[in-house]
Amino acid sequence: MPAIVLVGAQWGDEGKGKATDLLGSAVDYVVRFNGGNNAGHTVVIGNETYALHLLPSGILTPGVVPVIGNGVVIDLAVLFDEIDALEARRFDTSALVVSANAHLITPYNRTLDKVVERFLGTRRIGTTGRGIGPTYADKMSRVGIRVQDLFDEKILRQKVQGALEQKNQLLVKVYNRRAITVDSVADELLAFADRLRPMVADTARLLSRALDDGHTVLLEGAQATMLDVDHGTYPFVTSSSATAGGACTGSGIPPTRIDRVVGVIKAYTTRVGEGPFPTELLDADGQQLRDVGAEYGTTTGRPRRCGWFDAVIGRYAARVNGVTDFVLTKLDVLTGRDKIPVCVAYDVDGVRHHEMPMTQTELHHAVPVYEFLDGWSEDISAARSLTDLPDAAVRYVSAVGELCGAPVAAAGVGPRRDELIAIRDLV
Ligand code: IMP
Repeated sequence: MPAIVLVGAQWGDEGKGKATDLLGSAVDYVVRFNGGNNAGHTVVIGNETYALHLLPSGILTPGVVPVIGNGVVIDLAVLFDEIDALEARRFDTSALVVSANAHLITPYNRTLDKVVERFLGTRRIGTTGRGIGPTYADKMSRVGIRVQDLFDEKILRQKVQGALEQKNQLLVKVYNRRAITVDSVADELLAFADRLRPMVADTARLLSRALDDGHTVLLEGAQATMLDVDHGTYPFVTSSSATAGGACTGSGIPPTRIDRVVGVIKAYTTRVGEGPFPTELLDADGQQLRDVGAEYGTTTGRPRRCGWFDAVIGRYAARVNGVTDFVLTKLDVLTGRDKIPVCVAYDVDGVRHHEMPMTQTELHHAVPVYEFLDGWSEDISAARSLTDLPDAAVRYVSAVGELCGAPVAAAGVGPRRDELIAIRDLV
């Protein structure tokens, strides 16, 4: 039975929460496989807005089992704050399952994220400051603390002590901060152990069984292709694998079981934080996209950098992820323009590139080559099928699919859950 991967095709904030939610009622399990509470999923149901940072957005769909996979890094205080906030709004979160192998964000990881960014100055990444990068660094350095360590206090303390021997040297001697004690870290983590324990499982085995039993599993990526640590605009990336390959390593589901890869792509482009962004608009058009599209970070509230649609990136995302279908979001934000520029290639020092340039230097020099598509002025938020759309909007949707190399299966025309045009089935 199908395992479907859903990933962001640009720099994040494409509206993945809405796409996941759209699929949610057709799937049995929704799994997060990467990132932590740096993600920001906004789901609008009726007049209510739900901002999720760590929990899989499938948690809002009754009957779905939400899973936090081994590839996620967890800040336990945030996890329980989100659970409590949803419970207060009468959502049942009791089905949540958390991988015993997921890594925990510790107080020293959070502190180091902030002080290192400050130390980098103009070379900063513009991280969310949630400790994500340092926690993944600890995982790779094999000094990370995992969920299962909470259930063996002796081992937990040993591991925290081992990690702090290095971290405190850095904090005190390099960054001029106070040392952190083993007790303070262990106590903060252990305070959550009893509440967490019933949720913890071998999620890779659980998901494998679910697929054997004919259930549908949705693997929900956080961040996006261009923020992937391998395939994104390194070093201006997050520290996890946000592309389709990461869905396998971050969940324990093998590649041979993946049936479909859905790329979520916004009708224009945004990014948060530093790093190259060829179609960025620093003018009134950029400000208008930001205002109309409400482009302010769900997690940090930061204004997002905005620019025109970039088909070089869409094409790259289709290739790297093996996208079978795109979900195009926020088409309505483009309403009211005479012509809409779409970047179809880059000019890099006089050479035309239809594909992503190989080097960071080339990407920094990339100047967008635009084609100008006809715009539309009609309000499209009530459209529920392609035939309800003005011709120019239909052409925009088709152009995205043609330029990027995979069909558009749905197009978002407003923030609400139902403000969507379904073009072809995803499940
Ligand atoms: P980190 O993930 O906090 O380490 O931040 C690294 C980069 O990824 C920064 O540019 C962040 O702004 C960006 N980033 C992380 N999570 C998201 C997200 O969910 N949406 C958009 N950008 C993100």
